[in-house]
Amino acid sequence: MHAVGIVAAAGSGLRLGADVPKALVRLAGRPLVAWSVDALRAGGVDEVVVTVPSGCRDAFAAALPGDVRLAEGGASRTASVRAGIDAASPGADVVLVHDAARPLTPPDMVRRVLAALAAGHPAVVPVLPVVDTTVVVDDDGVITGAPPRSALRRVQTPQGFDRAVLASAYAALAADADLTDDAAVVRAAGVAVVTVAGDERAAKVTVAHDLALAEAQVGR
Ligand code: CTP
Ligand code: MG
Repeated sequence: MHAVGIVAAAGSGLRLGADVPKALVRLAGRPLVAWSVDALRAGGVDEVVVTVPSGCRDAFAAALPGDVRLAEGGASRTASVRAGIDAASPGADVVLVHDAARPLTPPDMVRRVLAALAAGHPAVVPVLPVVDTTVVVDDDGVITGAPPRSALRRVQTPQGFDRAVLASAYAALAADADLTDDAAVVRAAGVAVVTVAGDERAAKVTVAHDLALAEAQVGR
């Protein structure tokens, strides 16, 4: 089974607020994107494509091993992943789509996603339980409902797909569609998505506090 990894790294990182694109922000001295590429490879991914912000190709090339392919991302995560799929070798059997912003993803979690694909599932996402009470609010912030927590999950990456299934789901999607993950893209095409256990260590770096937590994790 030949696996290609697509690392979505073309965001700017507005919520983190650094002076460089978030994927180039350093964790223990190394850019987040370099950690994320390493995590995929350590978990068994054979080749990696990284989607980069426009105008940043040189900075990303300097931050990554020479055999990583770079593709220019788009205005939304969905557009960036679409560009990554187009740049990946058509010979791959499966695709793992990963956020550059999840630098400390354990290789075992990547292997769980690959194992479920090898078992024949066309779409696989790692998830975690929801530990806080979770509510729905109206426009004024007043609680209108509280869905039962036992059926809720937090979704992480890497998300794994049969390559042809993912490519045709993206091809069927409106050109300006903007979905928050790739499971949503294949679900829109009617594909069943199974879940495997995620890992708290694969948390996404979104705000400054997340980076501080990641630094503490590396220090351990
Ligand atoms: N991403 C991307 N292309 C975009 C937007 C996001 O490839 N146009 C990537 C980011 O680089 C990140 C991942 O998608 O690795 C998850 O997105 P998020 O955490 O929201 O990152 P940013 O969009 O960069 O951050 P923010 O929303 O705070 O600006
Ligand atoms: Mg974003």
